[in-house]
Amino acid sequence: MKTQEILEKQKRHLWPNHILYYSTPLPLEKGEGMYVWDVEGNKYLDFFAGILTTSVGHNNPTVNQHIQEQAGKLLHTSTLYPNEAHVTLAENLAEITPDGLDTFYFGATGTDADETAAILAQVYTGNTEIIALRHGYSGKSQMAMTLTGQASWRMGPVHIGYVRHAMTPYCYRCPLKMTYPSCGVACVDDLKDVIQTMTSGRIAALIAEPIQGVGGFITLPPEWLQAAVEITHQYGGVVIIDEVQTGFGRTGEHWWGHQHSDVTPDIMTMAKGIANGMPLSAVATTPEIAGSTVGAGLTISTFGGNPVSCAAANGTLAEMKEKWGPERSGEVGSHLRAGLERLQDKYPLIGDVRGRGLMQGVELVVDRASKEPAPKHANALLEASRKMGLLIGKGGLLGNSMRIAPPLIATKEDVDEALDKLDHALAQVQEMSL
Ligand SMILES: Cc1ncc(COP(=O)(O)O)c(C=O)c1O
Repeated sequence: MKTQEILEKQKRHLWPNHILYYSTPLPLEKGEGMYVWDVEGNKYLDFFAGILTTSVGHNNPTVNQHIQEQAGKLLHTSTLYPNEAHVTLAENLAEITPDGLDTFYFGATGTDADETAAILAQVYTGNTEIIALRHGYSGKSQMAMTLTGQASWRMGPVHIGYVRHAMTPYCYRCPLKMTYPSCGVACVDDLKDVIQTMTSGRIAALIAEPIQGVGGFITLPPEWLQAAVEITHQYGGVVIIDEVQTGFGRTGEHWWGHQHSDVTPDIMTMAKGIANGMPLSAVATTPEIAGSTVGAGLTISTFGGNPVSCAAANGTLAEMKEKWGPERSGEVGSHLRAGLERLQDKYPLIGDVRGRGLMQGVELVVDRASKEPAPKHANALLEASRKMGLLIGKGGLLGNSMRIAPPLIATKEDVDEALDKLDHALAQVQEMSL
């Protein structure tokens, strides 16, 4: 099928609120390593990795082999029957999760993981209220949409009464109009204030992403996260760190995004990059916290821990541990960051560059002094990059942040190619009066 036929069928049979990139959406047909091809045969350098998911590149032979071997034996069991791929994955993951977080629940989506983590926190603490962060994103169930801190991602009148939202340390647009680091992360006091004024004073959890993905790669300062962990514990809650986007070495140097802040979560969620695109998510916690579920109610998941998805994750982890680990992401990520900062020097449209490792965000503004957001330029940049043969992402409440996050296999040469394409695209967009 070619583009037009696919788009006609999409329009006829799929819900109209599916968000699609580009004025003419882009049906993809195949991928290989760092590249994808559309159904017309056009080739693109993929710097968004299917939303930070194809960790070890498209059509990865090791991952494919794991999938094919498992698919040839057994596609499905449900969690009623233990299977080797499932327990092997738990063992493999435990080698890289923070100390003590070696007990797992596997689900199928990030939404599933975040919702399960929130319920686990409630079961363990006996408290109900959960604090999430403004600009955060947790997924598409009722609870996950409520936890999400952006109106546009809440479909329908979603409101679960026990969720409260605290200020996010969005330093480029500081909610307190202060400047980091001289502010001393004063905004963390809002977390205490929200707990004291909007809850019973005994909370179940704080949920936070070390870098807010959908929020536009807003990067939490280490001191903020450290103080937030302390406050959460002080009020009886546990800390859920959502590593759905930041996990698996993406942020460089460490396997997990929160490790840049030297904190240890009580519960950690992960999905996206875990299985190179096969549907899988996980909640990691301590045996003590997991143990609190005994007697609280049974759990079952038809597709959780699916053997083929687990086999894909085992292949993905083997690849990452052997070849594409956090140190490498850190090194290639620094190269990417330096290149983006050079583009910032060249184009006033770029107001802010932020992120870590291979998770770099670029916020576009009409004018640097007023920081007026430039969402139309962001759309134009997405289109112009596509024309140059480069796929990047977009996000942020204001719709003006570009998300640049290639597969972890990206080389410095791939980064240079992407920067060159971005440079040409920015040159066109900078001149546009929109
Ligand atoms: C940080 C974070 N948590 C949770 C989710 C939900 O994951 P899923 O779309 O797999 O349900 C996402 C998805 O983008 C995410 O970015």
